[in-house]
Amino acid sequence: MQKVRKAVIPVAGLGTRFLPATKSMPKEMLPVVDRPVVQYAVDEAFEAGIEHIVFVTGRNKAVIEDYFDLHPELIGTLEQTGKKTQLEALESMLPVAGATSFIRQQSPQGLGHAVWCAREVIGDEPFALLLPDMVSFGGRGCLAETMDLYRQTGGNVIAVERCDPSETSKYGIVGRGTEAGSGFEVTAMVEKPAPANAPSNYYINGRYILQPEIFSLLGNQQRGAGNEIQLTDAMVRLSKSQSFYAQPFNGRMFDCGSKEGFIEATIAFALARNDMKGPVLEMLQAFVRSHERQEVAA
Ligand code: G1P
Repeated sequence: MQKVRKAVIPVAGLGTRFLPATKSMPKEMLPVVDRPVVQYAVDEAFEAGIEHIVFVTGRNKAVIEDYFDLHPELIGTLEQTGKKTQLEALESMLPVAGATSFIRQQSPQGLGHAVWCAREVIGDEPFALLLPDMVSFGGRGCLAETMDLYRQTGGNVIAVERCDPSETSKYGIVGRGTEAGSGFEVTAMVEKPAPANAPSNYYINGRYILQPEIFSLLGNQQRGAGNEIQLTDAMVRLSKSQSFYAQPFNGRMFDCGSKEGFIEATIAFALARNDMKGPVLEMLQAFVRSHERQEVAA
């Protein structure tokens, strides 16, 4: 079985759901507590054993490339002013030299097209795909769990979670087959089905391990839902000749592409930090009490 060494992180999306904040700043750079959204996906990938990350970027995304570069002036200033904690935080987030590539998706044509743009850098080996809007919380990290199942089954592996049955039209949904290792065999994949047509309520949560044959399928793909080149459509075609498995994630994903998910992530990550838990909890309790009082008064 070939080792998964490389990961693709698509960061070309326009972020219209966060306008006007994203007019001049990529949505992937919005901070959850004190780290940009994209940093969580990068940490998760390296912690799962990934050695090289291919970012698929677009216009107005250059700050992401700068963010993952060395900043000598800032380091100099922090050294001179004795800001050790901040210095350590900067050093710990920096990928080693040569561990990142940046590819341009020249026009937004869908997730499938963004993944296809990475084909030359990935080459003929299995790779991981992380959608950075989806921020992994808890468990051992979603990609690490997905890699575990890949080591048991090989083939293609998708991380899943259960969603409310009324919300299947927001996600890719998989059908559940027989158990396989820590997960199960995938019997069907449907992109954003109405609840009546959904094969289950297991939704694709934004972490994948895919075989390189996906690239030729994406290369001759018809446009699907939303007139975009859909990754799920190519996975359905690949499943005719290769196996797909699903790993239910033992933590949970926050959808930081939505405002509610973003706020939820901010609260969850703040409460998970020893230096913030106490004051943030107090603040939340005070908010709830004051809202309850207002409701009683109204
Ligand atoms: C994409 C995928 C979908 C998946 C989702 C997770 O959809 O196409 O299968 O469930 O990401 O966030 P998008 O959110 O880009 O519409």
